[in-house]
Amino acid sequence: MRLQNCHNFHDFRELAKRRLPGPIFNYIDGAADDEVTLRRNAASFEQCDLVPNVLRGVTDVDLSVTVMGQKLAMPVYCSPTALQRLFHHDGENAVAAAASKFGTMFGVSSLGTVSLEQIRKTYSGPQVYQFYFHKDRGLNQAMMQRAKDAGVNVMMLTVDSITGGNRERDLRTGFSIPFKLNLAGLTQFAVKPAWALNYLTHERFRLPQLDEHVDMSGGAMSIGRYFTEMLDPAMTWDDVAQMVKLWGGQFCLKGIMSVEDAKRAVDIGCTGIILSNHGGRQLDGSRSGFDQLAEIVDAVGDRIDVMMDGGIQRGTHVLKALSLGAKAVGIGRFYLYPLAAAGQPGVERALGQLRTEIERDMKLMGCTSVSQLTRENLRFR
Ligand code: LAC
Repeated sequence: MRLQNCHNFHDFRELAKRRLPGPIFNYIDGAADDEVTLRRNAASFEQCDLVPNVLRGVTDVDLSVTVMGQKLAMPVYCSPTALQRLFHHDGENAVAAAASKFGTMFGVSSLGTVSLEQIRKTYSGPQVYQFYFHKDRGLNQAMMQRAKDAGVNVMMLTVDSITGGNRERDLRTGFSIPFKLNLAGLTQFAVKPAWALNYLTHERFRLPQLDEHVDMSGGAMSIGRYFTEMLDPAMTWDDVAQMVKLWGGQFCLKGIMSVEDAKRAVDIGCTGIILSNHGGRQLDGSRSGFDQLAEIVDAVGDRIDVMMDGGIQRGTHVLKALSLGAKAVGIGRFYLYPLAAAGQPGVERALGQLRTEIERDMKLMGCTSVSQLTRENLRFR
């Protein structure tokens, strides 16, 4: 199987599976507990149907949106994800380059493997910095200052990860950072020598957002343990309100799921919220972002930009979310499998296919701009 044979999310996933050592593929592919929420995210789009209008003259379709002050050429952005150079040696460089080419926003994670400064200097798309609130308050302030100095456009605080999700696939393989594996995991590398060779012959794997601030020499730890030991479960709305003030710019919360919290985000001056369950990787059994969209948009949609992520695999999924009032949607695995499968050309191919699908679907819906997508176009069964 090759890149030219990848026509959708499932094809890229399959190619990534062939290229990556099992433990790394399972880190991306897996989720918490029984992975019910992971499955629910994708399934949630199937419970409603699009109602098209015809004969409207749809030669030119404008896919652009403005979200948190950033003009995006398409209503989809690349959510921040961790450890990208583990999946392909170009990592964040490949994703930022592809997103910039498509005129859209991308995230760089606190657990990113290329420095946020280097990325900001090199690529043009709006850059989000994904922030984890650590127990060490001094560290939090230093990290925010650094992001400000680098010229990051949007601060995105993840609020659903104050403790580690139960990722049983990782427990089985021993997947951890800095990168270590148990014996069962290690044997996997022998069967993927091409990946191992790439990994070993490129720049050393680092976590440049953290290694200046956090002593990572204490041995390897799982992502779950990192969350549990380093991040602060005592974080409250008051802490976040202070951060919002200190940042003084576009600030969004990723992982808001209730109307009550959405209202509080407005009250403390956030400019965006992302309805998300972290790709099903944290609280299994939680609702999908898509399922929560309508009630949250109704409550706060006129005061804050509401976005969602989780389960987007098709252009029609994007259209359904936009019809319910999302300003834009985030993708994670949707670009990570292509990254693992083929680096930047893979991500570009996936983004190109998604853009083509959205454009085609808009035409078939009789819409020439995103603002024409409304709940009138949607029926729940
Ligand atoms: C994860 C974190 C690192 O889901 O975002 O693995």
